Amino acid sequence: MQQSATSTIQDIRADFPILKRQVHGKRLVYLDNAATTQKPTQVIDALSDYYSNYNSNIHRSVHQLAEEATEAFESSRNKAKRFLNARDREEIIFTKNATEALNIASRCACEKFLKKGDKVVVTEMEHHSNFVPWQQITKRAGATLEIVSVDEDCQIDESDLETKLKDVRIFAFNHMSNVLGTINDAKRLTKLAHDQGCIVVVDGAQSAPHFPIDLQDIECDFFALSSHKMLGPTGVGCLYGRKEILEEIPPFLYGGDMIKEVRINETTWNELPWKFEAGTSNIADVIGFGVALDYLRDIGMQNVWKHEHEMCEDILEELGKLKDLEVYGPKDSNKRGAVFSFNVGGVHAHDVASILDDQGIAIRSGHHCAQILMQKLQVPATSRASFYLYNGFDDLEALIQGIKHVSEVLS
Ligand SMILES: Cc1ncc(COP(=O)(O)O)c(C=O)c1O
Repeated sequence: MQQSATSTIQDIRADFPILKRQVHGKRLVYLDNAATTQKPTQVIDALSDYYSNYNSNIHRSVHQLAEEATEAFESSRNKAKRFLNARDREEIIFTKNATEALNIASRCACEKFLKKGDKVVVTEMEHHSNFVPWQQITKRAGATLEIVSVDEDCQIDESDLETKLKDVRIFAFNHMSNVLGTINDAKRLTKLAHDQGCIVVVDGAQSAPHFPIDLQDIECDFFALSSHKMLGPTGVGCLYGRKEILEEIPPFLYGGDMIKEVRINETTWNELPWKFEAGTSNIADVIGFGVALDYLRDIGMQNVWKHEHEMCEDILEELGKLKDLEVYGPKDSNKRGAVFSFNVGGVHAHDVASILDDQGIAIRSGHHCAQILMQKLQVPATSRASFYLYNGFDDLEALIQGIKHVSEVLS
């Protein structure tokens, strides 16, 4: 196994206090990054700084603290706009997570654009957050939901897609699968769907943390992400929406801050993006998210991707050497990110995770909120190791030894 990236990894690790701790007397090997990532000191300090020094509500009072809090909150929006290369800061809406972002996109877009008999298309590799909202809304609207198959190589089945995209109103798909690691070509898929005149929703919860995103290049209509999967705090997500569409669709929640004028019989809505940010926002965590974006920008998303891509090739090679191990997802590292779902012959995924935990290795096991995909793979569950910028080849080595130990103990 190579050791090339080790020195930079050590520098990065120093920023993450949790990575210094031990679990069951062993060094923590954190490989559950697709579930949530660890936070650097810079983000942790930003939360404490807000509460210690300028805690205040935003967009309301004129006093000094309120101005400082409003400025910090709105500067996170500028950072998110830059990070995603959105055209306009008004297109960035803060939500509580990617799930809420996808619910806003689905509920509000459907209320405006979906009629009885219309068709919505998703794929078999969607996380429940990009499946259940469409399932429920199409039912309520009397529309149909069609699901594009995943092929043998764990890619979207192109011929099935071509057939299903005909006369479609909305196409929603993930940019990177949280189970297979498959990276979908969002730009090309958006173009195919736009050629059919439909609205395109991209679930970027697993892509935005790992490689550069250019929304002006992709040209999708909506894009969703979660702060906690990219070094930021929990409780914050982001919905990008194309401005013309956000102006047309109704608000998601009603209440304070999202209104312009309220009369007894009628209310008018605030400007974008605040029309979609009802009530007091999660101010501290949005500010923390901005600091996480600064951190990633300083490292450079191209460098994050390069590191994970290099690791990906080694991980595939090392996992491929293990006996009795089935790995799900593309075999070609150019088609995937560093999320690896696997099963160790005959051993339940939860037992694998629990034996690895005894060795200080944190992975996830279960259906990964993707039961449609589990049915397709014909498994109830998988184990999943997901890597990030602070994971090095020592973590890979620990995982490989850990899996060998599982086989010895349980096979
Ligand atoms: C692909 C994908 N979409 C959406 C989500 C939902 O993210 P959150 O739970 O932060 O809303 C996840 C979370 O794992 C995910 O992996």
